[in-house]
Amino acid sequence: MENKLEEIKKQTVDAVRSAKTADELEDLRVRVLGRKGSLTIILRSLGDLPPETRGTIGKKSNEIKKIIEETLESRLNELNETSLDGLVTSEWIDVTLSSPGATGTAKTGRLHPISQIQYEIEDIFTSMGFEILDGPEAETEYYNFEALNIPKHHPARDMQDTFWTEDGNLLRTHTSPIQVRGMEKMKPPLRIVGPGRVFRYESTDASHENTFYQVEGMMIDRDISVSHLIYVMKELLRRIFKRDVKIRLRPGYFPFVEPGFELDMNCLICGGTGCSVCKQSGWVEVLPCGLVHPAVLRYGNIDPSQWSGFAFGLGLNRLIMMKYGINDIRHFLSGDERFLVQF
Ligand code: PHE
Repeated sequence: MENKLEEIKKQTVDAVRSAKTADELEDLRVRVLGRKGSLTIILRSLGDLPPETRGTIGKKSNEIKKIIEETLESRLNELNETSLDGLVTSEWIDVTLSSPGATGTAKTGRLHPISQIQYEIEDIFTSMGFEILDGPEAETEYYNFEALNIPKHHPARDMQDTFWTEDGNLLRTHTSPIQVRGMEKMKPPLRIVGPGRVFRYESTDASHENTFYQVEGMMIDRDISVSHLIYVMKELLRRIFKRDVKIRLRPGYFPFVEPGFELDMNCLICGGTGCSVCKQSGWVEVLPCGLVHPAVLRYGNIDPSQWSGFAFGLGLNRLIMMKYGINDIRHFLSGDERFLVQF
C-alpha cells in the first residue's frame, strides 16, 4: 500500500510539473483527488485496513494529498504568470494596469465653456418642445441675406461684413439662415433652435471677435405675439442665471423682424441700482429678437396671413462673459489652458 501511495505521489507530481495548461492540471486533479480519484479511493477505504496499518497509511495518504494539492496550486500560479507575460508582449494595451489618472499625473479633458452653455441652452429649449437644427457654416448669399429680407445693396449688409469664398459663397455672419432652412424643411407650427459658429470680418478687441457663437431660435404658430416672445425669453434667462430676472424691450432694427427689439435684463451684479458693469443704467443688453417679418415667412413658404412667429439670436460668448464676469472675448479661442481650466 505504501508503495502504491509513493507511486501515485511521484507520478502525479511529475505530471503536474510538466503540465502546460490549466485544463491539464484540472484533469490531473480529477484523476487523483476527484470523487473517483486514485487517492480518494485509498482514503475512503482506510476503514477496511487492519488497525495496525490504518494509522500510518492514513497519515501518509493525507500528507501526499497535501503535497499534490500544493504542487497543483503552485503550477497553476506559474502558468498564469507566464500567460500574463505573453499578454504583455502580444497585446499593445494592458487593460489591467491602473490609469495614469489614478496616480494624479494625467489631465482629464473638459468641455469648452461655449459647448457647456450651448448644451445647457439646448436642454432648456428641448424641454419647451423646441427642435435642434444644424446649418452649414459656409452659406449662400441667399440664405444669409436675401431670404432674411436683406437684399443686395441694403445698408444692413454693411453691419455684417464677412469672408467670401471665390465661388460667391460666404462664411455665415449669424445663425439666422437656420431659420430659413428650418421653415423650408418643416411645416408650421414649428419651434426650432439652431446653435452654431458665425463669422464677421472685424478687427478684434476685447469685445469683438471674427469668430463667435450664437443660438438662433424661432417659433411659428397661430397668433404668436410679443407676449409669447417675452415669456420664452424670461424662462430662458431664469434657467441660465438660476434666478428670476427682470427684462425690458427697446426698439431694435433687424430687417428680418418687425417689430424688432433689443432685450435688456436687469444687471445681476448690482441688482439694478447701477454699477460699472451696466454703466450705471441698471440694465444690460442681452439679445436681439422680434416678430418674424412677413417677407421672411414668405421666403420660407409660410403664409403670413395664417401664421406668425417670433425669433431671437443669442450670442453665446457674451452670455458666458456676463455669467462669469469675463472681460475679454478673445479668451475663448485663445486655447489658453489657464483660461479653460476654470470651467
Ligand atoms: N441674426 C441677428 C444678428 O446676428 C440677431 C437676431 C436674430 C435678431 C433673430 C433678431 C432675430 O445680429
